[in-house]
Amino acid sequence: MNGARVLLVVSGGIAAYKAAALTSTLVQKGASVDVILTADAERFIAPLTFAALTARPVYSSLWDAPERIPHIRLVREAEVAIVAPATANIIAKLRAGIADDLATTALLAARIPVLIAPAMNAAMYENEVTVENIATLKARGYEMIEPDSGFLAEREHGVGRLASEERLLEAIEGARARRRSLLGKRVLITAGPSQEPFDPVRFIGNASTGATGIALADEAARRGAEVTLLLGPTLLAPPYGVRTERFATAQELLDLALRESREIDLTIAAAAVADWRPSERSAEKRKKSDETLHVDLERTPDVLAAIAAAGGSKCIVGFAAETNDHEAHAREKMERKSLDAIVVNDVRAGAGFGLQENGLVLLVRSGARIDLGRASKRTLAGRLFDALEPLLKERT
Ligand SMILES: Cc1cc2nc3c(=O)[nH]c(=O)nc-3n(C[C@H](O)[C@H](O)[C@H](O)COP(=O)(O)O)c2cc1C
Repeated sequence: MNGARVLLVVSGGIAAYKAAALTSTLVQKGASVDVILTADAERFIAPLTFAALTARPVYSSLWDAPERIPHIRLVREAEVAIVAPATANIIAKLRAGIADDLATTALLAARIPVLIAPAMNAAMYENEVTVENIATLKARGYEMIEPDSGFLAEREHGVGRLASEERLLEAIEGARARRRSLLGKRVLITAGPSQEPFDPVRFIGNASTGATGIALADEAARRGAEVTLLLGPTLLAPPYGVRTERFATAQELLDLALRESREIDLTIAAAAVADWRPSERSAEKRKKSDETLHVDLERTPDVLAAIAAAGGSKCIVGFAAETNDHEAHAREKMERKSLDAIVVNDVRAGAGFGLQENGLVLLVRSGARIDLGRASKRTLAGRLFDALEPLLKERT
């Protein structure tokens, strides 16, 4: 923790007093800690306590020193933010994007990992709206530090106690380690569908939205990698901090991939590239008629095999979207294309494409099989990099 730069946001719950102990431990371990208190947190614990512990000013208002734009400065200067304790109220505000005080405005402006440690009465924690708010924040990439069960301030037993200091420290350490785990690495990711036109307005495409590849690019950038994303036609926005090049057809992707895949440490090919394209493309829009239209399809170039053959990437991971015999097909594809690993995506009944949740299995050339489970695409992106990092270390 030595040299860590932590932003601690304390909201107005009974467990606010525990945030003082956490601050003290962080400072003793060599971290520098900036503390933001909500107005209601100040009813539970005095700013003076944190000022004395951190030997730094404590912040609670947007308006105390507006010339320093504190909500932006505080999140830019920190490596990781933690909300502990997080009230039901601040969780709901974060979910809705409300920014009506310094704490919520700073968190909305955060591009660093944000850890949230809920603490509240069990009935509040188990309320459907809180459950939904927490699930949404998780899917958006916030990390939840689940509360413990036990004695609550209301003299009831249940879930809702702030996680132990040990777990809070572990989560902060984990977030810091992940932030640096790909520092100095160059990562190339392909994402999205391709569109293969047969006239100027019509094309053959597929249901991919690029969400998985975008989440992967975001995760790699958060871990410190220099990321290039080759992104097909999608309305989803590319992530912050990632160099993005757009393609429409398999051929355009191939050209870009060959140009970009030099001196790359890790390539992840998550794009759902068309396997066939219309053999002919008419220059003018085809006129509607009552006749059946026959379109001949020819094979598109094999982008992944070409990247592997070009040899510019030390480690190559493919994706296999399958509807039957998933793992056998995926293993065969991994061998045939000389990939280091392949991610199997069960797309039966469209699962995967366009949905926020997905289920993935990673097969490694050496024979290992790692079930990444079912989760949001962001969570899966984190799990996939956790699983790939040891492989990458062997290769680079
Ligand atoms: C004695 C007392 C204890 C409270 N404890 C909690 C708590 O542990 N968790 C929680 O979510 N809200 C708790 N509340 C309610 C919050 O203080 C209230 O929702 C407040 O608006 C939170 O504001 P903030 O999220 O901006 O800090 C408590 C209120 C009182 C009066």
